[in-house]
Amino acid sequence: MTVSNDDELTALKDIGRIVANAIAAMQQALEPGITTAELDQIGRASLEGEGARSAPELMYGFPGATCISVNEEIAHGIPGPRVLKAGDLVNIDVSAEKAGFFADAGASFAIPPVSPKVERLCRDGKRALWTGLAEVRTDRPLAGIGRAVGAFAKKHGYTLVENLASHGVGRSLHEEPREIATWPTRSDRRKMTEGLVFAVEPFLSLGARFAGDGEDEWTLYSVPRAPTVQYEHTVIATRNGALVLTLPG
Ligand code: CO
Ligand code: CO
Repeated sequence: MTVSNDDELTALKDIGRIVANAIAAMQQALEPGITTAELDQIGRASLEGEGARSAPELMYGFPGATCISVNEEIAHGIPGPRVLKAGDLVNIDVSAEKAGFFADAGASFAIPPVSPKVERLCRDGKRALWTGLAEVRTDRPLAGIGRAVGAFAKKHGYTLVENLASHGVGRSLHEEPREIATWPTRSDRRKMTEGLVFAVEPFLSLGARFAGDGEDEWTLYSVPRAPTVQYEHTVIATRNGALVLTLPG
């Protein structure tokens, strides 16, 4: 969507904060021994306590309030009986709706102790996201995001998952502009218009280049198998750069 008035802006900031707070609450509970279903319950309670609804559940009938993907899983992991342990790399992706407005955010967390390589991957995954967000500005090319993230990944010796794109959000979980690459592309000539609302979510990896299907109809796996992180924010394009909506508060 494109923000056209203050009421829309206020509603988007509200759902952005709610989504970020849900991730923060889940992060706080992240420790060896907790199951992903228990973690999901914490996320659900956080959303519902604010009058918000899980977007994947609402839009797609996803079997959980939040997506929790562990190690070999990189996206759309289903919460369940899996018990988390030290050394696990856990991605939490939360998207939700309130009053007809949607926001989407995600982050990966390593449960200590972890190898320096994985610690560095988490740190650089966040840097990759912010490198992409630095390209957000009214009238700039959408492809600039993928170009910048691609240069960052190359410089630091990482791969990018190149079949999970970023997307417009706001009045729906996934809307126009669709398929915003967080890797270098040639064909995309679209520009960021003033007030455009979209999510940016690069997947940085120690070797994976694609997300592949598994046994169930949801979970996506790293291909080839390698530690992979995702960090995501929902933003608005403005003349002053990205206005990040999914910050806790
Ligand atoms: Co997401
Ligand atoms: Co998203």
